[in-house]
Amino acid sequence: MPDAKIAVLISGRGSNLKALLDACAAPDYPADIVLVISNKPKAAGLDLARKAGVTQAVIDHRDFETREDFDEAVSERLRAAKVDYVCLAGFMRMLSPGFVDEWRGRLINIHPSLLPAFRGLHVQERMLDAGVKIAGCTVHFVSAEMDAGPIIGQAAVPVLPGDTLESLSERILEQEHRLYPQCLRLIVDGRARISGAVVQYDAQVEGAGSLINPPVD
Ligand code: GRF
Repeated sequence: MPDAKIAVLISGRGSNLKALLDACAAPDYPADIVLVISNKPKAAGLDLARKAGVTQAVIDHRDFETREDFDEAVSERLRAAKVDYVCLAGFMRMLSPGFVDEWRGRLINIHPSLLPAFRGLHVQERMLDAGVKIAGCTVHFVSAEMDAGPIIGQAAVPVLPGDTLESLSERILEQEHRLYPQCLRLIVDGRARISGAVVQYDAQVEGAGSLINPPVD
């Protein structure tokens, strides 16, 4: 089967884009990134795409009168590139219901919490404030509601005594970079599929051990 064609939508730093680019560079990885779109002309992630030789486009949301017009311009580029899946990676704009409908089942996002807890912004700060002992990240299919949709995979990390916003964010981000390529592979391989409101795996996807924090003796 030919590799799946992936587009990645970014707004900033692009460390998850980098993780996906690195994964796609491996000969046995079943996907290729064919297009990177940023809504911000100065997004650092654009340089990563350039260095990897991937086509990039800036579609500046400020050039459009409505959200729908912007989304349609993005969709048009995605259609023209004949992409199979669209990965949001730090893309900081809500997408309109029309866009989400068109790409439903092919639109994937990563969020730095164990959804459905802590949707929205300033997630790591809010987790620290709430005193949670286990944080993490989620890769999920996108539905019209913010940070919602069938969950493909999650990674958990402990919140440690003395954690700061930076140290916790860094610990979560490290797992994001492992989780996103892994989840995309499961989807592209057809080993994980949407079934109603959830994602089901083939039997071959093995579970991991538990994370208990603070650890039990
Ligand atoms: C990540 O924490 C991701 O979970 C969230 O936005 C951040 C993007 O970081 N959606 P980067 O641009 O991929 O480095």
